[in-house]
Amino acid sequence: ARTWRADAIFRMKKRINMALLLVTGGAGFIGSCYVLSRCYAGDTVVNLDKLTYSGNLGNFEVLRGNPKHIFVHGDIGNVELVEHLLKTYQPDAVVNFAAESHVDRSIIDPEAFVRTNVLGTCTLLRTTKTWWKECAAAHRATFRFLHVSTDEVFGALHPGDPAFTEDTPYSPNSPYSASKASSDHFVRAFHETYGFPTLITNCSNNYGPRQFPEKLIPLVTLNALARKTLPVYGTGSNIRDWLHVEDHCDAIQRVLEHGRVGQTYNVGGNSERTNLQVVHGICAVLDDVRPSVEGSYTDLIRFVTDRPGHDFRYAINSSKLNTELNWHPTHTFEDGLRETVQWYLDNEKWVKDVQSGEYRSWMQTNYAGRLQN
Ligand code: NAD
Ligand code: TYD
Repeated sequence: ARTWRADAIFRMKKRINMALLLVTGGAGFIGSCYVLSRCYAGDTVVNLDKLTYSGNLGNFEVLRGNPKHIFVHGDIGNVELVEHLLKTYQPDAVVNFAAESHVDRSIIDPEAFVRTNVLGTCTLLRTTKTWWKECAAAHRATFRFLHVSTDEVFGALHPGDPAFTEDTPYSPNSPYSASKASSDHFVRAFHETYGFPTLITNCSNNYGPRQFPEKLIPLVTLNALARKTLPVYGTGSNIRDWLHVEDHCDAIQRVLEHGRVGQTYNVGGNSERTNLQVVHGICAVLDDVRPSVEGSYTDLIRFVTDRPGHDFRYAINSSKLNTELNWHPTHTFEDGLRETVQWYLDNEKWVKDVQSGEYRSWMQTNYAGRLQN
């Protein structure tokens, strides 16, 4: 039987015709942006998150006391818990962000990526599919399971190669991308085998507020502010296609509402930059807004031992999403980067809170052994 609170939410949602979403991994970087945007839009979000090192309840300070955000601490692989949430809240959709998300960590501990990204996703699919089959026909027809994935499943491009399309064969190179590729295959298989109404999005590198500072842009920003060295892997010539997290969340919502069941959609920012360009861009913003008497932040750049199996280039062709769903990124990389750097300057408490023991031990594990070239 549903609890009183769930009943009340269920009735309210039906009355005003807003969605109830079960979001997994909603305490992380992209998930929290999505949760905030959906709560502001009037939907109710049940946010299931294990709170690993990158999950952060501090991302929801602004939603404190807001009944549209229901946080549940738990694992996507916990069948009883997920079953309970599905039966209690009867969501209109499940949006799966939950994952181990950092390539360098996957090189050190690949099994952790198999546990959450492969097994966890498969269990979440099975549990949700079992519940979905018992739903009333009208609910079964409109329900969607959207899985958030990455362009890294397609492998690496050479300079001049055409960008990845939805038809590019999978060719993952890192344990992270292998685990995401595997999860995508399971999502696809659940659609083909059981008719489960799935959608997949494969996006490029996200940037924006609230990204855990193990990733390039926040790492370089915060190291620079602390006058620490800025580690650039290899020669800094690797290329990523940068997508603002808010544009990504808009794309997810558009796919959820209007995407064709069983399809995948690529999401890119049309902003290919070399890593060195990105690092110089961050330094230029800081030199402008927080000039240092010790000289330009670029003096801190150091070329260090490359990431093993480092994919040279990613680039996304989003024309399917552009033409079918009329989605286009709205942020230019230069403006988005400036705003992002400014966000880290303005949110000292958030930064201090995430730079905990776990963060410090990761910095030691990943960077202490890298030689400067
Ligand atoms: P993140 O590491 O910031 O957040 C992941 C969240 O998942 C965290 O809150 C964590 O606590 C939670 N989580 C981890 N394991 C869990 C489990 N077993 N059960 C429940 N929750 C769990 O990652 P992100 O950058 O926000 O990425 C979100 C999704 O987007 C991931 O699936 C990632 O593969 C994908 N993606 C990210 C990027 C990017 O540039 N960040 C690019 C492409 C795709
Ligand atoms: P990252 O933010 O880890 O994302 P991904 O590996 O998913 O693309 O890295 C972005 C790029 O920046 C990637 O080419 C690796 C590079 N990089 C560095 O040069 N130095 C660093 O300290 C980090 C974390 C990444």
